[in-house]
Amino acid sequence: MTVMYQDDLKTVLYTEAEIAARVAELGARISRDYEGKSIALVGVLNGAVVFLADLMRAITVPVHVDMVAISSYGSYSSTSGVARIMKDLDNSVESQHVLIVEDIVDTGLTLNYLVDYMRARNPASVKVAAMLSKPSQHRVKVQVDYLGFEVPDEFVVGYGLDFAQRYRNLPCIAVLKPEIYAGPDTPPTL
Ligand code: PRP
Repeated sequence: MTVMYQDDLKTVLYTEAEIAARVAELGARISRDYEGKSIALVGVLNGAVVFLADLMRAITVPVHVDMVAISSYGSYSSTSGVARIMKDLDNSVESQHVLIVEDIVDTGLTLNYLVDYMRARNPASVKVAAMLSKPSQHRVKVQVDYLGFEVPDEFVVGYGLDFAQRYRNLPCIAVLKPEIYAGPDTPPTL
């Protein structure tokens, strides 16, 4: 089978079918846990859009969907965790059951900031769904209530995750070849 961007990928971690099965499981668990309630899903732009689109269709209780965008807090060597909302919620989450939807928890700083940000808006509850988590990079403790998969300490792309804005539309989750992101003279190829 031909995989998109095949020449740029070191290995496929999770296939499209494995992802679909996991998202279905998460959706079923969420639907049970929130039975009789509705959920304010808050997706984090841009990476979470793919997971959000699949997850919301695997949830059988009513949902509202909102999106936020967070500025990056700078380089990966930063420990400040300084983040800024670039696009705020369109709707109030007061008294709502908020479920933040992320593609990946890397250092955990983005989610840490977002959970506090949501809690300050008087919701009924705040929980987190993340497709991926990279435990080796966590700098702060973040509770992920619904997790897809853990990934190793490698450059992971696909299913919404990018390198230089590419690979988000890769249907599987894969490790990028180091020469793609490390080589100064090796721009990614189509
Ligand atoms: C990624 C990802 C998370 C965040 C996780 O977003 O989507 O939001 O980084 O990293 P952290 O746990 O170290 O805070 P990014 O800033 O790359 O933007 P994107 O979603 O548009 O790709």
